[in-house]
Amino acid sequence: MLTNRLEFLDLPKELTHQAFARAVAVGLSQSPKSVPCRFFYDAEGSRLFEQICQLPEYYLTRAEQALLESHANAMIQTAGAPTRLVEFGSGSSRKTRLLLESALRSQPRIHYTPIDISSDFLRHTCIGLLQDYENLHIEAISAEYRDALNALLPQEEPRLFLLMGSNIGNFEPGEAIQFLGLIRAQMTPRDRLMLGVDLIKAVEVLQAAYNDAQGITAQFNMNLLARINRELEGDFNRSYFKHDAPFFPDKRCIEMRLISQIAQTIRIEGLGISIEFEAGEPIITEHCYKYSPESFHALCEAAGLETIRCWQYEPQPFLVALLKPL
Ligand code: AVJ
Repeated sequence: MLTNRLEFLDLPKELTHQAFARAVAVGLSQSPKSVPCRFFYDAEGSRLFEQICQLPEYYLTRAEQALLESHANAMIQTAGAPTRLVEFGSGSSRKTRLLLESALRSQPRIHYTPIDISSDFLRHTCIGLLQDYENLHIEAISAEYRDALNALLPQEEPRLFLLMGSNIGNFEPGEAIQFLGLIRAQMTPRDRLMLGVDLIKAVEVLQAAYNDAQGITAQFNMNLLARINRELEGDFNRSYFKHDAPFFPDKRCIEMRLISQIAQTIRIEGLGISIEFEAGEPIITEHCYKYSPESFHALCEAAGLETIRCWQYEPQPFLVALLKPL
């Protein structure tokens, strides 16, 4: 029985729905309009993100994968051969398999806590992992990062926390320090944190990664409107919005947006509100900050974390850093 090795903590559907409803109501009433990027990941959004990871322009996944393929053993050993891994935003856990396999080679049994907002996707991922690794035990949490962090139980054995795929880049720099600080506050002196972060590089390469030729990123972005229509009874017409993802060199970030092509009023029946758009007005849906190694280490230090070791991929600069509490 696979399920002997699975514990799954899920929020009641109504709470998840309420969180989405509130975020959309607040975000679309502000100026500029915005919706937090975690709401991309309904079942369809998670599926589209997996497709993004395969795109020729989206180098991030392959860069991190290459680092893990070459160095997973060194990473696990340097982290002290932990028996427990906790991952924020685990998605398909595809790259994490390399770390799990390495950990399973040095320990008889591994506990893995994948945390992901996309509940059905997470369940599916867990089943696949349990089928493939008989010495793996999973205590999954489907929730937002902060709620999941609060739900973690203190552990005797050292843990390795993971925040990979440049997920840290989706936080505003101030929020990134705050969130890393929250993880830091849960870490014992023997716990470790591994971060994967995309580094600043040629503007054309960055822009292409978020404006792919097949238009999958555009679909991923637009799916948010479909989700509002479906879950909150909105009447967004997707042909009147356009995907946009410019790079801002001074902020060092890609800003994902949906641009209203015309002046229009959108009714969101489930929220009892109507939202006015001017022609050309954006909804900001995501920020993807890019770091230099220096600015990244400064960020970690500000959160009370010290770098033990770094692995850098050069063809498309990407960094995996192993950190410990200062
Ligand atoms: C993996 C969530 C960090 O910011 O690059 C991909 C999400 N957005 N294409 C990123 C994303 C548009 C991705 N994260």
